[in-house]
Amino acid sequence: MALDQVCFGDSAWSAESWGEEFARLADDRVVLVADEGVAVGYVVLLVPPDSEDPVDLLRIAVSPAERRTGIGGQLMTAALRHCAGRTVLLEVAAGNESAGALYSGFGFEEISRRRGYYAGGEDAVIMRRQEEKVDE
Ligand SMILES: CC(C)(COP(=O)(O)OP(=O)(O)OC[C@H]1O[C@@H](n2cnc3c(N)ncnc32)[C@H](O)[C@@H]1OP(=O)(O)O)[C@@H](O)C(=O)NCCC(=O)NCCS
Repeated sequence: MALDQVCFGDSAWSAESWGEEFARLADDRVVLVADEGVAVGYVVLLVPPDSEDPVDLLRIAVSPAERRTGIGGQLMTAALRHCAGRTVLLEVAAGNESAGALYSGFGFEEISRRRGYYAGGEDAVIMRRQEEKVDE
């Protein structure tokens, strides 16, 4: 929660929200943590039980002091390993260049926009990553 607060400020999840995420670990949530003695990064996924349903990447963040050292990429690699073969969706603020670059680098592509979605009028960009199906 402390790391979430540092990374997202007013948009940080409340204790109640985090509690709900962890309560759903047995159902459809996956939380991965980059741990260097203290948590320096995390990713939260919504992984529906039906493998035909897309996975939602709900949140990914790295401690500001540890950014650009590869932790976000490692978290993303681990997250995608958890949902091999499945479509993954996410939403990102149009002006969030670091996250946008991370996502593009992992093969996510913009599929739609929610105009003026965020407070302040910023667009939300919906991105999708699809793994190519290999014929057997
Ligand atoms: C997005 C975020 C998780 C990236 O984490 P990170 O540990 O810095 O990422 P990495 O060091 O693994 O970088 C992986 C790639 O992402 C891209 N990238 C990351 N930060 C970038 C930046 N500031 N500018 C441009 N590209 C960037 C680069 O392509 C980078 O590869 P490179 O370093 O080889 O060029 C981190 O910036 C963050 O926590 N941001 C705040 C929270 C947030 O906005 N989360 C997304 C919305 S839920």
